[in-house]
This record gives sequence, C-alpha cells and structure tokens, in this order.
Amino acid sequence: METYNLRSGIPIPKLGIGTWQMKDAERITEIFRQAFEAGYQLIDTASAYGNEIAISKALRALAIPRDKLFLQDKLWNSGRGYQEAQEACKKSLKKLKLDFLDAYLIHWPASPKLHTNWEEINAEAWRGLEKLKADGYVRTIGVCNFKVHHLEKLKKSAKEMPELNQIEFHPGFWPKELLDYCKKENIRIEASSPLGNGDILQDTVLNEIAKRYNKTPAQICLRWELEKEVLAIPKTENLDRITQNRNIFDFSLTKEDTIVLNELPYCGGLGIDADEVTEFG
Ligand SMILES: NC(=O)c1ccc[n+]([C@@H]2O[C@H](COP(=O)([O-])OP(=O)(O)OC[C@H]3O[C@@H](n4cnc5c(N)ncnc54)[C@H](OP(=O)(O)O)[C@@H]3O)[C@@H](O)[C@H]2O)c1
Repeated sequence: METYNLRSGIPIPKLGIGTWQMKDAERITEIFRQAFEAGYQLIDTASAYGNEIAISKALRALAIPRDKLFLQDKLWNSGRGYQEAQEACKKSLKKLKLDFLDAYLIHWPASPKLHTNWEEINAEAWRGLEKLKADGYVRTIGVCNFKVHHLEKLKKSAKEMPELNQIEFHPGFWPKELLDYCKKENIRIEASSPLGNGDILQDTVLNEIAKRYNKTPAQICLRWELEKEVLAIPKTENLDRITQNRNIFDFSLTKEDTIVLNELPYCGGLGIDADEVTEFG
C-alpha cells in the first residue's frame, strides 16, 4: 500500500477501511481477512461506532502484526475535556487491547448551536490529545469535521496543530477552501464517506466516466480523491468490493474528466454541517 508522509514524518496509507455500522465480530474478521490480504493496513473506527471490541477480536483472530496495522480511533463528544479525553482514549485502548493508537482524532468540533464556549471545548479536548501523544498512547493526533475557522481558533492555544482532518469529501462535495488551507498548513485531509455513503454511485455522469475507463463508479471516486492527495476510507461489507476499491493505483484521470468530477452537483452523502449540529454536537 502506498503511503503519504505526515508532517512529523509518520507514513500513513493512502487508502483504508471505514467501519461505521459494522458491528459483528465474525463478519468484521472476514472483511479484515480480505482487506489485509489485499494490502490494506489502515482501519478507521470511533468509540461512537460501538465496534472496538469486535475489531479487537478480529485483529487477534487474524493475528495481524502490530507493525502491519494503522489503527485510527476517535474521541466522542462526551469526552471533550482535558482529563476526559485522556480517559476516553485509554478506555478505547483497553477495548481494542492495544498499547497505542496510530492516530486519535476529535470526532466533531463543539457546535456553536449548543455551546457558546465551543472554542474553549475544542482547545481543552486538543490539549488532552497532545498529552496522550506526549505520553506515548498515540503516535499522531488529528481532528474530524473541522472547518478553517475551527482550525484557526485552535492555533491560538495548540502546542502543535493536527496532522489529520477527516471530513466529508467526494465528487459533489469537496470544500476547496478547506482543502487548500490544510495543504498550506500541512494537515492531511482524509475523505470520510468517500463514496458519498454509496448514494452518489448512481450518478449518470460518474457512470459514463467509469465506463470509459473500464472502472466502477466507486473506483473513479477513490481515484479522484487520491489525485487530490486525500486519503480515503471507503466502507464495504462486500468482500469483492474490498479488492475492487483497492484497485485504483493503476490508472489516472484526464484533466477534462477531473474538471467534470470537480463540478458535479451535490448528489448524496452525509451532509452534516458541524456548525449547524443541534443533536449530538
Ligand atoms: N469522522 C466522521 O464524522 C465520519 C463520518 C462518516 C464516515 N466516517 C468514516 O468514513 C467511512 C466511510 O464512510 P461511509 O461509511 O459513510 O460511506 P462510504 O464509504 O462513502 O460508502 C459506503 C457505502 O458504499 C457501498 N460501497 C462500498 N464500496 C462500493 C463499491 N465498490 N461499489 C458499490 N458500492 C460500494 C457500501 O455498501 P456495501 O457495504 O454493501 O458494500 C456502503 O453502502 C466510515 O465507515 C467511517 O469509518 C467518518
């Protein structure tokens, strides 16, 4: 698996496996078996997905060597204090039966719709992550769903800036200003919902392009993301699709097709705006 180098020099695979909505340990074991055989190493989970124990069982059943695994986990919103963030991470490590995480990310920035002190909440959670890194519990730290203004505010108190920002990113939805900002600040963008939750795969234009390359619409999305130097973590429970999604390193998109994909209108995805969240933010 090809890798990107993070600002700190840590290599991170260009493609990983998303695990949102995967719960069953036996099924996860089958999926991971196929994935590791196909060369994947990065697993993306979150305490909110409720699957850390199942993932741990799968990793142990398959006896995946620790140095062949890039395990990425996330801090849920209830743990965004300095102490709380550290406790939450240690709880996740216990469930995963691991000594350290490769990456630990703040899952959501505090929503201004729910918290007048959102900047302070984000800063405290971040201080907790910095401490976890200093203490050796995580190799690198990052955020999810942060926009430019969240990152700019964080800069005021952070000892170090995030190395990763996992955001919704796929044809039909890619925040260009945020991508440019993160490139300038050396923060690697990870595409969550890189297939727009599967919704965008029916898009006619995407399908026409895919046909011309003899590729699937999913492969076109993932290649487009790769060519934007973004890391993608597609989720699939279909064993053939695990291999299919991996086969994106043997072709490239023309400039013309890239422009067409850049300009696709919104055609599906998660569609949650971190500043507008009123339920879980
Ligand atoms: N940080 C965050 O806030 C956040 C938010 C959302 C997601 N994420 C992460 O990003 C990961 C991926 O996002 P996602 O789960 O929202 O959706 P996604 O990966 O964009 O799309 C998954 C959907 O696409 C289908 N699919 C996968 N590969 C396919 C292929 N080759 N051909 C046709 N259909 C295909 C899957 O169905 P089958 O399973 O049936 O193949 C599933 O319905 C998540 O699992 C999670 O780890 C993070």
